Amino acid sequence: MPSNAEHARDEHFWHAVAARYDLEPGPINLENGYFGRMTRSVVAQYERHIEFINRSNSVHVRQRFEMIESLEIRAQLADLLGTSADAVALTRCASDGLHALIRNYNALRPGDQLLVSDQEYPSVLGAMRWLARNRGVELIEISHPCPVSFDSLVATYQQAFERYPRLKLMALTYVTHRSGLVMPVQAIAAAAREHGVDVILDGAHALGQIDFDLAALGIPFAGFNLQKWMGAPLSLGFLYIDPKRLADIDPDMGEERYPVSDIRARAPYGTPNIPAWMTLPLVFEEHRALGGSAAKGARLNYLRDLWVSEARRMPGIEVLTPDDPRLYCGITSLRFRHEPEQQRMVERLLTEYNLFTVTRDGTAHGNCIRVTPGLANTAQDMKLLVRALGELSG
Ligand SMILES: Cc1ncc(COP(=O)(O)O)c(C=O)c1O
Repeated sequence: MPSNAEHARDEHFWHAVAARYDLEPGPINLENGYFGRMTRSVVAQYERHIEFINRSNSVHVRQRFEMIESLEIRAQLADLLGTSADAVALTRCASDGLHALIRNYNALRPGDQLLVSDQEYPSVLGAMRWLARNRGVELIEISHPCPVSFDSLVATYQQAFERYPRLKLMALTYVTHRSGLVMPVQAIAAAAREHGVDVILDGAHALGQIDFDLAALGIPFAGFNLQKWMGAPLSLGFLYIDPKRLADIDPDMGEERYPVSDIRARAPYGTPNIPAWMTLPLVFEEHRALGGSAAKGARLNYLRDLWVSEARRMPGIEVLTPDDPRLYCGITSLRFRHEPEQQRMVERLLTEYNLFTVTRDGTAHGNCIRVTPGLANTAQDMKLLVRALGELSG
């Protein structure tokens, strides 16, 4: 049995995986971080569910989906995460869940402080700022040094916990959207616990490409989506609350359906995308059949390593994401050193090499170009990127 790293290099196998996705003619997409593709079979099933729910309308939904199927699907999701069904509630995206956790966190007292870093997703940052304003508590915003290391990331939090003893709640991003940096969540969460700081984990980019054990992470609250690396239809996410901590999150405003003891009372109200929910059993089955996050993540890391190992040697390129295998995933960002405006280079990558990438900005250290291969990319695509970076930076 080959290891995941060996399996990741099996171009024959992964070409067959890539062939399960229909691609629109056009640029080679190296911006798979926005949302993932569904396989052709998931698309086909999704379409069938749309047609079926449209024909059956509320009859199926009221008789079967609400009472039975939605609970079965939630149980399957919990099973995938290795947790219990009463710890998860489906939402429409990661932000839905994260915002609900932030606005309904009820354990803040006057004088408490909140913590965020410059790696947070803008809507999480905005929600934490909102919480501070609305509850009259102070928000502490820290920046990570650049470049980072495993130890520096943990130390930055450790220092913040020591310097601000009134910290009560923090946001933590598992995989940052700017550079794909993977945070040492378990170590940070352990330090946070020692200082009595609760963590709301933004797992938007983690599920499906990082092989983690949710219970072992030791975090009480989290929000995820299913549309990035799980390959589910758009409009699906979920929130997680450690059942022992349910009482620390109030039911969401407008909630009248579920008892206070039910985690579903914490999810924002609204009619869900039912046909999308109904595809989840197939999405989970395909995810498992591919070898789960361990195998998918290894393949994405391999595609990433193909270009990063070359780009590191190019004097004109700065690769922002570290090479410590604990700290990176398939997403990695770079900068052209000679170019003050990275967007210009994104345009040149597209017009001169047919490569689609995106700029990200907002860290304390300026903007960058994010490269995110997906499962429909091949080693050949990464070689083209290496050629482009070499020629454009030379
Ligand atoms: C780190 C991070 N958090 C949160 C989100 C928001 O996810 P969603 O679109 O599912 O709300 C994203 C989306 O790109 C993200 O990258």
